[in-house]
Parts: sequence; C-alpha cells; structure tokens
Amino acid sequence: MAVRTSSRSYAPFGEGAPWLGSSEMARLVGRFDWSQTPLGPIEAWPQSLKSAVAICLRSPFQMAIYWGAELNCIYNDAEREVLGSLHPDALGLPARELLRESWPVVGPRFEAVMAQDTGILLEDEPLAFDRHGRPNGSFLTYSYSPILDDDDRVGGVLLMAEGTIGRERHEHELRALLSDLRAAQRRVAAAGDAERRRVERDLHDGAQQRLMAIRLELGLVRELLVSDPSTARQRLDELHGELDAAVEQLRELAHGLYPPLLASDGLYAALMSVARHSAIPVTVDGEGMSRAPRGIESAAYFCCLEALQNATKHAGPGANVSIQVRMTGDALRLRVCDDGAGFDPNAVRPGYGLINLRDRIDAVGGQVEVSSAPGRGTSVEARIPVR
Ligand SMILES: Nc1ncnc2c1ncn2[C@@H]1O[C@H](COP(=O)(O)OP(=O)(O)O)[C@@H](O)[C@H]1O
Ligand SMILES: [Mg+2]
Repeated sequence: MAVRTSSRSYAPFGEGAPWLGSSEMARLVGRFDWSQTPLGPIEAWPQSLKSAVAICLRSPFQMAIYWGAELNCIYNDAEREVLGSLHPDALGLPARELLRESWPVVGPRFEAVMAQDTGILLEDEPLAFDRHGRPNGSFLTYSYSPILDDDDRVGGVLLMAEGTIGRERHEHELRALLSDLRAAQRRVAAAGDAERRRVERDLHDGAQQRLMAIRLELGLVRELLVSDPSTARQRLDELHGELDAAVEQLRELAHGLYPPLLASDGLYAALMSVARHSAIPVTVDGEGMSRAPRGIESAAYFCCLEALQNATKHAGPGANVSIQVRMTGDALRLRVCDDGAGFDPNAVRPGYGLINLRDRIDAVGGQVEVSSAPGRGTSVEARIPVR
C-alpha cells in the first residue's frame, strides 16, 4: 500500500526496530517520526511501551494504545477498519485531537483510567467516529485498560473494541421478528378455520346431500319391490351408480385434505399424479428423493400445488411448467417454474394463494422466493430445513 505522507513526517523504515513485527501498521509505526511527539524517538522508548506496542501490532483483535502526556495514538491492522477514513492520519495523533467529536464523553474515561489505574468496560456503545465519513449505526463494546510504564506508573491506555449489535437494535429486531411470527401464526390458524369450513360446506352440499337422496330413493325402491320388481331393480342399478359417485366425491375431498399418495409414496409420486391430471404440460424432476417428515412434505406439496394452479390460471395459453424437488443433506428444496406471461411483483399484490404459500413454508421454518417479470415466466423456489 502507498504510504500517504501528506503533511505527516515518515522517516525511512526503522531498520533498527524489528521488534515491531511485519504487519502493515508495524511498517507505518516504524517509519513515523516519533521524535516530534512527547513519546520521543522510537529507539528511546521505554521497554514497557515497546512490549505493549509489540503485543498490539501482533494482535488480530482491534486495539489501540494511547501513550504519554498527550495520549498519542498507536494502533494495529485490525483497528484500521474501525478508524475508516481516519486511517492512516490517526497514527501519532493525540487522543484529544483524534477523538475530538466524542472527547466530552471519552476524555473523562481516559483521565479516570490514567488517574485510578483501573480498567473500564463499556458495552454496546454507539460508534464514536464517523466511520468512512458516514454514521452507520454501529455499536461497539470498549475496554480501556491502564498500561504501566517502567516506573510502575500508568503511562498509557490500551483501548480494545469489538463490534456488537446494539442491544436496543437487537431487541427491536427480535420484537419485529416475533410480531411477524405471531401474524403468520394467526394467518395459519385462520387459514385452518377457513379450510375446515370449506370441508364442512363441501360435505354438506356434496356427499351428504347425495347420501340423503339415496336414502330417500331406497325407501321408494322398497315399496316398488312388491308392486313393480323390474322398475325396482332398474332403480337399484341407478342408485349403485349414484353411491359410486358419492364415494368418489368423498375420495376427492379427502384427497384435497391430505393426498393419500403423498402419505404412502412421498412427494415425488404425489406430484407426478398431480402432473398427470394437470390442464397444462408439467414435468416433474425428483425421482428417488428420500422422504421428509409429514409436515414438511405436506408444506412442499401444497406450495407446488399453488404454484402450479397459478401457472394454470395466470401464465396464459401455451405455458409449460417444470417442478423440481430434491433433498440435500439438511433441506428439502423445491422449484416450480413456468415460461408463461409472468407478472410485475412490484405492481401485483399477492393474493391469498401466495400469502398462504409463504405462511405454510414459514410455519415449517423454510424460506420461499417468488420471482417473476412480465413476459419472463414465474418461478417459486423454497428451501425447508429438514433437521
Ligand atoms: N405463474 C404466474 N404467472 C403469472 N402471474 C402470476 C403467477 N402466479 C401469480 N401470479 C400473479 O400474482 C397474483 C397473486 O397470486 P395469488 O396470491 O396466488 O392469488 P390468485 O391466484 O388467487 O389470484 C395473481 O393474481 C397473478 O396476477
Ligand atoms: Mg393463486
């Protein structure tokens, strides 16, 4: 890296100070003209300062040493990230100058450490400097520790800093997450209720009505058995057919709740069956995939089903759909793509279909992404952790 000298004075690299080590900051510290500061020429530094600086420059952890009457700053490679645009001019600056903005707050801390020979820990403090010239809401945990000089008096301060997410922000994010989760939970519960009502309605209007009608018919047939046996036989044959239809209706209803093939043979087989009955061409890729827990297979199945129904309803004539499902080590992944009309996700508001789809995948701890653009088809991709 080119050394920015500007108005600062750097002597040729101090060959006489191999103890500084080989880091980038070691090179800058070695070249810096310390004789212009209260620290004096580097060759004459007290052993305690040299030891502290040697540790600091070799540490991969963010560290800065402030030493002497003006607390001039020496820092290591890791600290450059915290200093941002203040690097490299921060080197050798008195603390009061370098930390000008925050001096009213940090000044008393330095003074306390120097005067009382005890360390200070401050957790989750907002970042003191405007890193890279912009405040970015970072938080740091700081420790200020006294460093003794050769006379066992406090000669300087070791400042260590670790980036943290501020507790407040942490709590705020957690609260937002929790409220999203509760809202999803409520939607899943409401969707469950709506589904139960639909099943009740379908049973009432469908199979139940048919069975009642068959029961009435049977009463009539009983009377016909005596007066007109041949008509009775004919009616019985018809009723047989109607019973078959009622059974089929019940089967279809049950299939919509939890397809039997999904339970017995798994996701691939259930999707193949859906593909065979689809109104538009569908390919399914995922033969031989291993089984996942029932709740996960069901979430994946209904997610694929909604995506396929959307393609059927909205992708336009001539659209083709491809479904891919597979198990990687720790997750079930699915992808449903169509090559149809697509839509602009910024302009189209998701309806209950896409909201339910997202909730289903959320409820089993997965993520889902719906991508589309007008004329570019639509893809729905989801990843559900299995362990
Ligand atoms: N595969 C698709 N191709 C084109 N448009 C789609 C597709 N999937 C979803 N959309 C658009 O997104 C909207 C929301 O979908 P959805 O939430 O499933 O509601 P619905 O299907 O009941 O309209 C649809 O009305 C449609 O405009
Ligand atoms: Mg839909």
